Amino acid sequence: MKREINGNLIAYLDGPGGYQVPESVINAVRDYFVNMNANEGDEFETAENTSMMIQNTRAVFGDFFNCAWDEVVFGANMTTLNFALAHALMREMTTGDRVLITEIDHEGNRGPWLQLMERGILVDEVALDVDTRTLDMKDFEEKISRKPKVVAVNYASNGVGTINEVHKIVRMAHEVGAYTVVDAVHYAAHGPIDVRELDTDFLLCFAFRSEKMRIYFFPAPVSFRYSTAWRTPPLMSV
Ligand SMILES: Cc1ncc(COP(=O)(O)O)c(C=O)c1O
Repeated sequence: MKREINGNLIAYLDGPGGYQVPESVINAVRDYFVNMNANEGDEFETAENTSMMIQNTRAVFGDFFNCAWDEVVFGANMTTLNFALAHALMREMTTGDRVLITEIDHEGNRGPWLQLMERGILVDEVALDVDTRTLDMKDFEEKISRKPKVVAVNYASNGVGTINEVHKIVRMAHEVGAYTVVDAVHYAAHGPIDVRELDTDFLLCFAFRSEKMRIYFFPAPVSFRYSTAWRTPPLMSV
């Protein structure tokens, strides 16, 4: 991050998933590969250290989100986890069922749901008001009345910075019996998240985005998901 161009330090104004990380992240990743990096479940020290590190990390993130450690799941990245989630939730849907996504969301919370159209699922999109850069909540109210099975929305937009009315969206989605999937990748580094208070079924995040929170444990980009529902069939495989 101290790199210079023409004698000037670079100001990194963007925050995409893959970007420069502080030295403490690099050191933690190095430490993992040097001292651990084993399959879990074996009875030797590196395996035990790996298991303990993952366990501790889940507990830290549970604390961060105000949920239990075993409600936290790691995966390759946010988008991959969301594809797995969409596949699992697909088992609860039949042709003609609906999913509601938004025009303000990142592709990571759109692509997994849009691909369900190949399986006969209808996907509605909440419109973006381009003047205010906010979701058109009138459009949301109209489309939620179509009783979607899943509502997928981002907490805050990485594109324009808008913080969406996620509490209202989750409440109204639950009123029609929908699962809620909140993408908190962008929001997590900027504001507190309390999943119990938010009451969402699923919340997706990105740990490397959390460098400001001093959470530097995992060797690869990881995501985590909070869910009250994931332990119940057919979601156990997620
Ligand atoms: C708001 C938001 N959601 C989702 C993603 C996708 O995250 P990942 O790269 O972990 O799939 C990003 C990545 O930049 C993002 O900014």
